[in-house]
Amino acid sequence: MKVISVVGARPQFVKLAPVAEAFRASGHEHRIVHTGQHYDADLSDVFFADLRIPAPDVHLGIGSGGHGAQTGAMLAALDDVLTEGPRPDWVLVYGDTNSTLAAALSAVKLHLPLAHLEAGLRSYNRVMPEEHNRVLTDHAADLLLAPTDLAVRNLAGEGLAGRTLLVGDVMTDILLRVRDAVADKPLQLPADAGDLRGVSEESGYLLATVHRAENTDDPKRLRGIVEALAALPLPVLLLAHPRLRAKADAAGIDLTAGSLRVARPLPYPEMVRAVLGSRGVVTDSGGLQKEVFLLRRPCTTLRTETEWPETLQGGWNTLCADPADLVGAVLRDGPTPVTGHPYGDGHAAEKVVAALAERA
Ligand code: UD1
Repeated sequence: MKVISVVGARPQFVKLAPVAEAFRASGHEHRIVHTGQHYDADLSDVFFADLRIPAPDVHLGIGSGGHGAQTGAMLAALDDVLTEGPRPDWVLVYGDTNSTLAAALSAVKLHLPLAHLEAGLRSYNRVMPEEHNRVLTDHAADLLLAPTDLAVRNLAGEGLAGRTLLVGDVMTDILLRVRDAVADKPLQLPADAGDLRGVSEESGYLLATVHRAENTDDPKRLRGIVEALAALPLPVLLLAHPRLRAKADAAGIDLTAGSLRVARPLPYPEMVRAVLGSRGVVTDSGGLQKEVFLLRRPCTTLRTETEWPETLQGGWNTLCADPADLVGAVLRDGPTPVTGHPYGDGHAAEKVVAALAERA
């Protein structure tokens, strides 16, 4: 079997890691195409190095741009890449970014079998670019590899049950492995971060990330969020995505005010360790909400809805759309124990490879 994985953005590299490992163990041919959507070393190279992902076979070098220009440039470039050499048995796409949608469109137009990993997630928020990408990709794909029971039900509700398979969540595979590797290591903060006063496990700190278009593109909304983070009663280690820096700079918003201690995004193992060392996390990231839940730290999500509602059980995650409510949400009563494994058993990637091989 020959499979081409198309990835481009940070969360996709995390998902690719266990899948690439499972392909390596299986002996099937696996090629990796990187669209170049994320190109900063912090967002791309360190993930390949730390998570031991083979270097991409092809790098399209597309970079940033508006949704149309970025997705269109990828689509144009992918046609040649996907038709080069022997025909693939599957084109495998991941998650919900513009890279996902471009590769999905390219594959269906070329009549290549398309599999979507992390299929069936829904926010039902039609202004999110990720929601367009995931819905369109699910409806284009031949095989929908769903991470959760809820994702399976969502797909059934859209008439896609016949193409759906529950495999579990590949992010659980990599997270559990990395958690075990870093649990006994000391906290490692970015050396070049500047003022990290008070960010220590002994005195307690919160970890924060903000990058979504809905939270960063409107300066008023962004200012409200940053001011609410700055007013929290513990130091807040803000791991700033380049998009956040760019939008804050443009709007004249200070990312170092009050409790804020700003740093660059961390490599994956250091990020997992920083979550473990924290008193809790404030984020608008989908993947991080789930990682924090699996690491059993309290999470506060700066959104009106979540694609991962399983994280809300026991109060481990809570939605906080209004920055005015942030202090109360972060200082809420401690979560209660939960049972069950809504995100799988840590062996999803092997099931992905087996599912593709059975249908090749
Ligand atoms: C993308 C995904 C989002 C995912 C996120 C993870 C889409 C629509 N969104 O959002 O679902 O959660 O990745 O990080 O695909 N930039 C850099 N260096 C980089 C990449 C981006 O400086 O390596 C800056 C540029 O100013 C760029 C902006 O960040 O314009 C946004 O990047 P883009 O890839 O369009 O979307 P993300 O916000 O990263």
